[in-house]
Amino acid sequence: MAQLDGKVAIITGAAQGMGEVHAHRFVAEGARVVLTDLQEAAGEAVAKELGESALFVPHDVREEADWDRVIEATLERFGTLDVLINNAAIWSTASIESERVERLREILEVNVVGSWWGIRKAIAPMREAGGGSIVNISSIAGTRGIPEHGSYGASKWAVRGLAKVAASELGRYGIRVNSIHPGGVKDTGMFLIPEEEQARSFAGQPIPRPALREEISNVAIFLASDASSYITGREHVVDGGLTLW
Ligand SMILES: NC(=O)c1ccc[n+]([C@@H]2O[C@H](COP(=O)([O-])OP(=O)(O)OC[C@H]3O[C@@H](n4cnc5c(N)ncnc54)[C@H](O)[C@@H]3O)[C@@H](O)[C@H]2O)c1
Repeated sequence: MAQLDGKVAIITGAAQGMGEVHAHRFVAEGARVVLTDLQEAAGEAVAKELGESALFVPHDVREEADWDRVIEATLERFGTLDVLINNAAIWSTASIESERVERLREILEVNVVGSWWGIRKAIAPMREAGGGSIVNISSIAGTRGIPEHGSYGASKWAVRGLAKVAASELGRYGIRVNSIHPGGVKDTGMFLIPEEEQARSFAGQPIPRPALREEISNVAIFLASDASSYITGREHVVDGGLTLW
């Protein structure tokens, strides 16, 4: 039996990067997946590769009406909702002194408000299904004060906290909520270190290389599956040991 047989999952930000690989791996593990993203052509293309087990729905995670359409399309096509991966996010690096407040607000709106809507809109169908699993994708920037990560870090600490609050409110309905905290993950929109500089950049890390996207998917699959049935409200750091201190 595959790890996600029979599960229906929504993955936001699935047109590229980690979300795209989560969608591929979830389908390979037996799930049916609704991929959502702002990028329509790229999202449609990923869903097409995945065939009957996948559906793409255009989505701006900031918008309540978009979430309503995503949930409606999920229930119409697959009949239930078991898993939500709040993956979509944006990023900037800037010191607090140099950051524009407009950029801070954009980041909080996508990363925090977008995840909040996701949790809020998943509750009713997951209660109806008798339970579910929600995963907020945070970052090691949500476990440490990393310089030049004021806006992004604030958003990633917020989604970590939101997962804990949601876990405390929703456990009674069989809904578990956790966060994943990746370190640097190659082949994604947010990873800008060229191949030739990676050995030097990661030399000080216990596992001295960036993560593959699949290595984050493995943890997302575990948290989405019944194998993690007694785990909720916890942080799952996947960073090659970078923040072990
Ligand atoms: N790449 C890394 O090294 C890294 C490290 C730690 C955490 N993360 C986190 O992992 C997750 C995935 O990161 P990634 O690097 O794969 O990102 P990415 O930039 O490759 O992909 C993000 C996707 O989100 C979509 N998106 C952006 N705004 C959106 C919106 N308003 N509504 C819907 N979709 C929207 C984008 O179109 C894009 O397809 C993010 O939450 C990120 O913060 C990434």
